[in-house]
Amino acid sequence: MAEALLEVRNISKAYIGVQALDDFSITICEGEVHCLVGENGSGKSTLIKSISGAVQPDAGEIVIDGTSYGTSITAIDAIRQGIEVIYQDLSLFPNLTVAENISLTGFIEEGKRLTNWKRVREIAVQTLSQLEEEIDVELPLDRLSMAQRQIVAISRALTKGARLIIMDEPTTAITAEDVARLFNVVRRLNARGVSMLFVSHKLDEVFQIADTVTVVRDGKKVGDYDAKSLDETELTYLMTGEMLEYKPFEFDPEGEGARSLLEARGLSRENQYEGIDLAIHAGEVVGLTGLVGSGRTELALSLFGMTLPDSGEILFEGTPVKMRGPEDAKRLGISYLPEDRHGQGLFEDQTIADNIVITVVDRMKRFFGIIDNNKRVDTWRSWIEKLKIKTPSALHAVSTLSGGNQQRVVLAKWLAPEPKVFLIDGPTIGVDVLSKARIHDVIQDLARAGMGVLLISDEVSEIMQVCSRALIMRRGRLVAEFRNLRSIDEAEIQAVVAEPDTSEEAS
Ligand SMILES: Nc1ncnc2c1ncn2[C@@H]1O[C@H](COP(=O)(O)OP(=O)(O)OP(=O)(O)O)[C@@H](O)[C@H]1O
Ligand SMILES: [Mg+2]
Repeated sequence: MAEALLEVRNISKAYIGVQALDDFSITICEGEVHCLVGENGSGKSTLIKSISGAVQPDAGEIVIDGTSYGTSITAIDAIRQGIEVIYQDLSLFPNLTVAENISLTGFIEEGKRLTNWKRVREIAVQTLSQLEEEIDVELPLDRLSMAQRQIVAISRALTKGARLIIMDEPTTAITAEDVARLFNVVRRLNARGVSMLFVSHKLDEVFQIADTVTVVRDGKKVGDYDAKSLDETELTYLMTGEMLEYKPFEFDPEGEGARSLLEARGLSRENQYEGIDLAIHAGEVVGLTGLVGSGRTELALSLFGMTLPDSGEILFEGTPVKMRGPEDAKRLGISYLPEDRHGQGLFEDQTIADNIVITVVDRMKRFFGIIDNNKRVDTWRSWIEKLKIKTPSALHAVSTLSGGNQQRVVLAKWLAPEPKVFLIDGPTIGVDVLSKARIHDVIQDLARAGMGVLLISDEVSEIMQVCSRALIMRRGRLVAEFRNLRSIDEAEIQAVVAEPDTSEEAS
């Protein structure tokens, strides 16, 4: 068996009202790719923070190469021993070049006062070539895609002599194409003997890359498994103790009584989307997918009044409307949940309850602007309950929630106004499989009650699970529609999404 590089032994960590980790142990060996999976709030990020010294556990010990650091390992100890945690924000410098980001911290840590710029560049080029990555090292970081930035962060870790790189949900912020790229880099690292520990909610990815999978549930270890010995269904069961079943959604947009809520006719906007005809009906869940850059998000922005189309018409309940801004859209009864989780305006220091009701407080005003407190409490209670937001108290700050639970608060916030039409871009980013299924149930229930939903997602599988029909965009155009999703193979849709454009535009 390979040597143990890092051993976490019997770690416990409690926060007020929550046992985040409970006697948890994990061993990472040299040269392995190890995945940590578990539901939202099960303690994964807390474990990673305990390893890097960002959180001090209440009990247990961290052992590196056989040397125990007790519960009080520091970030510097970890880095000296070759353990690098790359957080989601990546901690890079947007104004510095790629070369500087990769090599400079190493120079600074060595205490060199004069920087040898030629060397800075050389190291960066060399490190990237080890990963077989071509990125112009003179570019400022802010010109790079998210995936390229991750590779820069990995390269930086390598220049510091990393033997184990730890990443918390590295694939939530990047596209499916970029995941493949990141995984190639991980495989090359692995071939050089560097170990990797990472967290992901996308179980298909876990099976693509992992040697070993450790499952955590409510802060306790369920077990360590050879990835080859499991499949997705078994892994889901280990994580949640439940078997998942998918309930496909049926709706006939041409059926009797189908009522169009939001409609686009010949909608175009230069360089973004062109000639879009679509209708979202009351009671329908329409899926919209396409590669990044296909124009799907740009289209959603116009349907929400954030941008004006150049030509074409938008109709709401059959009447042409001109939305001059999102306020107009909200007034009509349209909600939009944007893709970028950090741009969704959660007030991190405010309570969960306040974040949920913020979109509806105006409606709760009675005489003299006094807010109807009962209504307020009922509203946040019901959403916490419906979306199963995991917290000991709604009066805790949003920042105390795990990532996936914060995502649910965002969803609650946009559902609280009870919109007629809900445009959702990536509703379950960072959400665990079981909760994802629950969120899908909630969306379908709301549709059954009459809401019209446009669900934009990268994952064709997600669209197949939730929607009654799927629209595919490519280069700004709607190129295909699939109905009866039950009878269609995922691969068939996937092929249309990824199909390179032929010469149809030439005519
Ligand atoms: N600073 C904090 N104060 C209070 N409670 C916290 C704090 N940080 C985490 N918790 C709680 O500890 C538990 C574990 O959280 P953690 O962030 O480790 O979960 P996770 O497994 O990473 O979840 P996710 O998949 O949603 O990211 C959760 O119940 C969370 O609310
Ligand atoms: Mg987390």
